[in-house]
Amino acid sequence: MSRTYLMIKPEAVESGKQGEIIDLLLKNRFRVVRMKQFRFDGPRARAFYAVHEGKPFFEGLISYITSGDVVGLELEKEGAAVELLRELVGATDPANARPGTIRYAYGTDLQHNAVHASDSQPNAEKELAIVFGEP
Ligand code: CMP
Repeated sequence: MSRTYLMIKPEAVESGKQGEIIDLLLKNRFRVVRMKQFRFDGPRARAFYAVHEGKPFFEGLISYITSGDVVGLELEKEGAAVELLRELVGATDPANARPGTIRYAYGTDLQHNAVHASDSQPNAEKELAIVFGEP
């Protein structure tokens, strides 16, 4: 059993897609351990996305992710949760995402790509700590 972090982004929450996305997670045998709807403030968003600091899209990403509520989920699954979730989520750009993935079904473009999923175990632990306030 291992864990990872998934976050439903503002446009998907705003358009009411969170229920369908969570249903898809459950059908794929992810277990929801903790879940929280919240809105990032600037400093917390910058800490969350610190790996992207300095990239050309960083400031746009911060203003977008702080623009409305997100839903954060700690997910648990038999096997390699980080990798299995990334497969279910699909390519970062929905235009490249395969049918059957979350971003294919719910993403619009590179910025409005419906969800964020941790890309490694260390990043999952870091992101879970930022969102749920673990040590
Ligand atoms: P996410 O998995 O949340 O991680 C960082 C986000 O930055 C990414 O999804 C995209 O929504 C967003 N983004 C915007 N522009 C780019 C880009 N050129 N390359 C990668 N990610 C981008």
